[in-house]
Amino acid sequence: MVWEQSSVDFDGFSFVNFIDEEKIALRVQELANQISTDYAQKDPLFIVVLNGSFVFAADLLRKITFDCKSIFVKLKSYDGFESTGKVEELLGIQEDISGKDIIIIEDIVDTGKTLNDFILTLHDQKVASIEVVTLLFKKDPFRYKYPIKYKGFEIQDRFVIGYGMDYNNQGRNLPAIFVKKD
Ligand code: IMP
Ligand code: MG
Repeated sequence: MVWEQSSVDFDGFSFVNFIDEEKIALRVQELANQISTDYAQKDPLFIVVLNGSFVFAADLLRKITFDCKSIFVKLKSYDGFESTGKVEELLGIQEDISGKDIIIIEDIVDTGKTLNDFILTLHDQKVASIEVVTLLFKKDPFRYKYPIKYKGFEIQDRFVIGYGMDYNNQGRNLPAIFVKKD
């Protein structure tokens, strides 16, 4: 498959060009500038939410202009019979994060459930502050009240892949973002 194509197919579904590499790079730089300014006097800990965020995090963190720590978590939201509403950490936090200023790095916030549950677990660990940076934000399905301070792009409720995001683990290495054709 040739990445320069304006559309790609996976399992019979077509995905078309949505946000190109240049536009992503410009926005990532802007987000990094803003975070670098806001946290210049602090010592934040970045928490990268795997899997989808790995490309965004790699680009964003390399544009941050202060020394910082970054760790990784892999999350799965409970649902169905679980009454706690908490998130399952497939890869959890080993470090003591109490008192830390946390910046969560996400690829995309959809309903917001995954992050909501994760944020609750961070509060339990007595962190100093929590902000979220997400490359993409789906405004309509979002059903929580927590603030998302840094948003790359607000998009409609459509399924996207590329730049780390996947369809059945496919498409993560697309350098641009593609949207599923209706
Ligand atoms: P939420 O809990 O509904 O906010 O969804 C969170 C996670 O679902 C995101 O971090 C993504 O990993 C995944 N996700 C949501 N929408 C999309 C999409 O359009 N493409 C790929 N993954 C998505
Ligand atoms: Mg994600």
